[in-house]
Amino acid sequence: MEKLLIKGGNTLSGKINCSGAKNAALPMIAATILCDQKVVLRNLPYLQDITTMFELLGSMGSEILLDENMDFTISSANLKDIEARYELVKTMRASILVLGPLLAKHGKARIALPGGCAIGSRPVNFHLDALKELGAEINLRNGYIEASAKKLRGANIRFSGITVTGTENLMMAATLAEGKTTLSNVAKEPEIIDLANMLNSMGADIQGAGSDKIIINGVENLIGTTFDIPADRIEAGTYLVAAAVTKGSITIDGIDPNRLMRVIEKLRNTGANIEHTDNSITIDMDKDCPQPVDITTAPFPEFPTDMQAQFSVINAISDGTANIYETVFENRFMHILELNRMGCDITVKGNHALIKGVKSIYGAEVMATDLRASASLILAGLCAKGETVVDRIYHIDRGYERIEEKLNYLGADIVRLPS
Ligand code: EPU
Repeated sequence: MEKLLIKGGNTLSGKINCSGAKNAALPMIAATILCDQKVVLRNLPYLQDITTMFELLGSMGSEILLDENMDFTISSANLKDIEARYELVKTMRASILVLGPLLAKHGKARIALPGGCAIGSRPVNFHLDALKELGAEINLRNGYIEASAKKLRGANIRFSGITVTGTENLMMAATLAEGKTTLSNVAKEPEIIDLANMLNSMGADIQGAGSDKIIINGVENLIGTTFDIPADRIEAGTYLVAAAVTKGSITIDGIDPNRLMRVIEKLRNTGANIEHTDNSITIDMDKDCPQPVDITTAPFPEFPTDMQAQFSVINAISDGTANIYETVFENRFMHILELNRMGCDITVKGNHALIKGVKSIYGAEVMATDLRASASLILAGLCAKGETVVDRIYHIDRGYERIEEKLNYLGADIVRLPS
């Protein structure tokens, strides 16, 4: 297994571009199942999760072409299979995103039931309950979700809990349902708005994405489109933290700051100077030690759970004590044990982490357990004394495009060690 070797202590400076957003791209790739025409997706990030999603569509019979501009053309006109096999679903839970489109377009789907994962049990009951309200018949058999519907019918649906991919699944399914669907208690993440924009460009009629209530008037069919994947707010946030923990100064181009206002606000509370345009963010730590900052994760527009592990590192080297409450996932503190092995002083009890800042942390051999946990270990390696080796970096390759290249461009010293 490949590893990353990080020599800590370099201050980051310079400018990088933000890549396309993984969590916007995954539902958009699934949405291509909804029409018989070609869909062109531009600015897709080169990530393992994107490859897995294409592998899934390919296994069902979609045709996927990559051209010289790195644009992907996807055609699902000749889809033969409606099954997402366990081999793929177990490597990427977002495979569940094909459920809504398959049901709406082909009237049936068979998807392996995702199990637990490193950050929590992550059930899909909200997706299934809501699809039943659209008229789908759903059975769980031999570890698979078996769903069918002659024709989905619009309904008033209130999610029993806020779910990002659940909202996306239902939004996609309802585009081809008969009549009007109203979804309430929905997720309001920017990726929900992105997906609605893409579906509307395919001829769907979706209003209210980004608010508490989404209204979808079903249409007969959807048509092809060309769509640009917006920039990845979590990637941008992670690099901003990299600058903060190395007391550096960097600019990230191509990102709309409105997508990470809470993150910017919290970074300012650590003492960072942050300026932004409509399309870029500059952070300058002015060589200062970060101040501690309390965090409580919650659905958008509150502080994202996907930035919690990275903020654990800022607090771990801060000039004081901070509290982090993780309210979205029940088990998202796996990085803490590894951070403590590097000299951090963090105590976890339930969903609360008490972080006492220390003057220095030290390089160690550490192991990544999930995507954002791996990011936090790399950030810790950047500001640790000596060398850090991060093992199991396949997690990081799922969600960060060329991370060591981008960080090295900013002045880091990271080498990818072959397996
Ligand atoms: N939940 C249920 N039942 C459901 C669905 C969700 O109980 O049917 C619970 C989950 O267990 C969790 C909470 O509701 O405790 C929120 O989960 P949600 O469904 O919103 O998460 P998701 O859609 O599976 C997406 C992102 C995650 C991100 C979360 C929260 C994608 C592909 N994934 O997951 O991204 O953490 O929303 O913002 O969009 C990552 O990129 O590292 C990542 C994990």
